Amino acid sequence: MKILVTGNQGYVGPVLGRHLRRVFPQARLIGFDTGYFALCTTGAAVSPERVYDAQLNGDARDIDATLLQGVDAVVALAAISNDPMGATYEAATDAVNRGASLRLAELAAASGVGRFVFASSCSVYGFAPGAARKESDPLNPQTAYARSKIETERALAAMDRQGMTTTCLRFATACGMSERLRLDLALNDFVASAVAARRIIVLSDGSPWRPLIDVADMARAVEWALLRTPENGGPLLSVNVGADSWNHQVRDLAEAVAAAVPGAQVNFNQAAQPDTRSYKVDFGLFSRLAPNHQPEMTLARSIARLKQGLEAMGFDDANFRASTYMRLKMLEAHRNAGRLDGDLRWTADAFGGA
Ligand SMILES: NC(=O)c1ccc[n+]([C@@H]2O[C@H](COP(=O)([O-])OP(=O)(O)OC[C@H]3O[C@@H](n4cnc5c(N)ncnc54)[C@H](O)[C@@H]3O)[C@@H](O)[C@H]2O)c1
Repeated sequence: MKILVTGNQGYVGPVLGRHLRRVFPQARLIGFDTGYFALCTTGAAVSPERVYDAQLNGDARDIDATLLQGVDAVVALAAISNDPMGATYEAATDAVNRGASLRLAELAAASGVGRFVFASSCSVYGFAPGAARKESDPLNPQTAYARSKIETERALAAMDRQGMTTTCLRFATACGMSERLRLDLALNDFVASAVAARRIIVLSDGSPWRPLIDVADMARAVEWALLRTPENGGPLLSVNVGADSWNHQVRDLAEAVAAAVPGAQVNFNQAAQPDTRSYKVDFGLFSRLAPNHQPEMTLARSIARLKQGLEAMGFDDANFRASTYMRLKMLEAHRNAGRLDGDLRWTADAFGGA
């Protein structure tokens, strides 16, 4: 099996690469990424891409059919991957997350790829008070990022997939340790803050609901989608990926972190504007379709691994919200240095004016 993973040099990619190498030891793994965060490794002793058989550099907006030659399965991770980046780079978010993913799917279908896995997001439910949302419930995307994900799902449904089994994994918010850790994710932020400053600053009153999934469990879900047959869920499937027991309120996450880091205090912002992103998600379909690939991590283990990973890095940056551990800050650093343009394309200056 030859598996192409786009966007593999981010947060999820290193954990996914190790997992795919372990479960498909004979597979040929090809990574493809533009490398915005390639140098943002965290505690990696070797290049996270070493588990891939080949690492290609390129922009997902420019791919052509040669990339798909001989490929059996595609995992489309490449994206401008959160709301703040989507708000700042709205056109690029649409072009990469929707445009390039759709083009990749079309080229894949035309070249006979059997499985296409798209990294979607539970943020398509947006502000959703009340009962946990099922896949068939109305959506309420609040941001350019969330819209890019649901528009891609819809376009994948409308296109001629030519028999390509297609799975849109609507992941809960990711958390957990990775060799390219992001700290712009709720739980990761709390653990980093507790480790560096013994305090956790919650930017809301703590009431929003936020389902989470550990990156290790995201990798197991991708494995399932790569093996899925159309008899199990249909030729095109959108499925919430996470576990009902991981639907937490933000305040519970903060308190769980405080309990795991001696001396850490939690501060809530009681004056905060109501969070426009709050949803509980129903993961029943995923548990029925993928009984052997259900999340295995517990919140306590995710927190413990993050704490251990950050401590092993000697992490002590209490001001990390202004640092390149935040994906948007890394893009801004590239922009301010003239390495990226406003469309998030590399400039000639990025490569020494070559
Ligand atoms: N992290 C989460 O909470 C979460 C939750 C749900 C879904 N997802 C989705 O999972 C995927 C991976 O997320 P992540 O946390 O690893 O994000 P990330 O930002 O760490 O990684 C995304 C990768 O895509 C690459 N990329 C961006 N634009 C590209 C382009 N034009 N061409 C080639 N590569 C490009 C980046 O260089 C980066 O390596 C994304 O699609 C994201 O939307 C993530």
